[in-house]
Amino acid sequence: MLIVGGGIAAYKALELIRQLRAKGASVRCILTAGGAEFVTALSLSSLSGDKVYGDLFNLTDEAEMGHIELSRDADLLVVAPATANLLAKMTSGIADDLATTALLATDKPVLCAPAMNVRMWLHPATQRNVRALRADGVSFVGPDEGDMACGEFGPGRLAEPPAIVEAIGEMLAAGDKARPLAGTRVLVTSGPTHEPIDPVRYLANRSSGKQGHAIAAACARAGAEVVLISGPVALPDPQGVLTIHVETAREMLTATEEALPADVAIFAAAVADWRPDREGDAKIKKTQGAATPDLSLTENPDILATIGARKKARPKLVIGFAAETNDVVANATAKRTRKGADWILANDVSPASGVMGGDLNTIHLVTADGVEDWPRMGKDAVADELAQRIADAIGDRRTAGAVKA
Ligand code: CTP
Repeated sequence: MLIVGGGIAAYKALELIRQLRAKGASVRCILTAGGAEFVTALSLSSLSGDKVYGDLFNLTDEAEMGHIELSRDADLLVVAPATANLLAKMTSGIADDLATTALLATDKPVLCAPAMNVRMWLHPATQRNVRALRADGVSFVGPDEGDMACGEFGPGRLAEPPAIVEAIGEMLAAGDKARPLAGTRVLVTSGPTHEPIDPVRYLANRSSGKQGHAIAAACARAGAEVVLISGPVALPDPQGVLTIHVETAREMLTATEEALPADVAIFAAAVADWRPDREGDAKIKKTQGAATPDLSLTENPDILATIGARKKARPKLVIGFAAETNDVVANATAKRTRKGADWILANDVSPASGVMGGDLNTIHLVTADGVEDWPRMGKDAVADELAQRIADAIGDRRTAGAVKA
């Protein structure tokens, strides 16, 4: 997304677009009112091959792509030329036109290429704004020093297009490294399921959902599009994750199947293996002297095994957990084959381990290649490690055509 501010250097934005497109980038422009005094929307549109946006309150534009979406659809926002006025507004969070609104609403990195008169650049107000913006994570390229259109000499010239293109390339490469799961769709199940006995009672597994929710959040931080299917938990929905709330195993299976296709599916939920075979409409009453209710159970679908066995739309990487109280690795190894999973993260959930409801976890990663023992670490660290492993495997798949199991 290229935001063209109002300065004489706006003409260089045209060459910048040309060079970016020559490198295979797609460029969409926002032209400020000031910028439109120096270059036309038609020139930007001809070179970018895309529509040019300018008006915050344009009904047609808003219906096609809202201004919030516009700012998030890009990988990077580039302000060139970034005028003293634009920098000041960005510093204060003023959003009084489409450009400044997009800059305030974006969740993407921002690169500014300042261009202004030397006195304006050196003014303490501008220098203070640049320091504040840098502290906010905004990057800068230039300005260069030299003769200026206004007849003065000094720093304030817009960086040359090749230097801006290079800075953009570096920022995009750094972004790819920080978001190794970008472009990947990940599905995660988490929490327990509740299987109703009657309208007020249920059967459930012990599960806080901490590990599954941490995995969903870690994958989202790594750039994945994440769908989290959660049983009843006392945790907030993780940021940047589409969370679907379910109660029972059967609802969890339906929601999982509806969320496909996905590149990766991680089954961290503690699904109740059985449910009462008849859910009464009325509360079972405790009558003095009467026999205790006879709960007969029926087996729930195994979500992991169902997805693992799919022929159509099976995720490339199917990852299960194995909650074991004894013979952890042996049981997990058998479970991997039985459930058709690529990887199993086995953990000891015996009462002595403190894993259930706690913040720490000791994982044994079981794959087709063998078993890897991870050190005891926080559930957030397990989640980050798993996200990185998934990114490595997906990366290998992209280059080698198969997932490294
Ligand atoms: N799982 C599932 N659906 C079920 C039961 C389990 O998707 N109905 C998934 C869990 O999310 C986990 C894995 O299967 O990823 C293993 O769960 P675990 O409770 O360890 O295994 P069980 O199937 O209960 O096997 P067992 O009772 O023999 O330990």
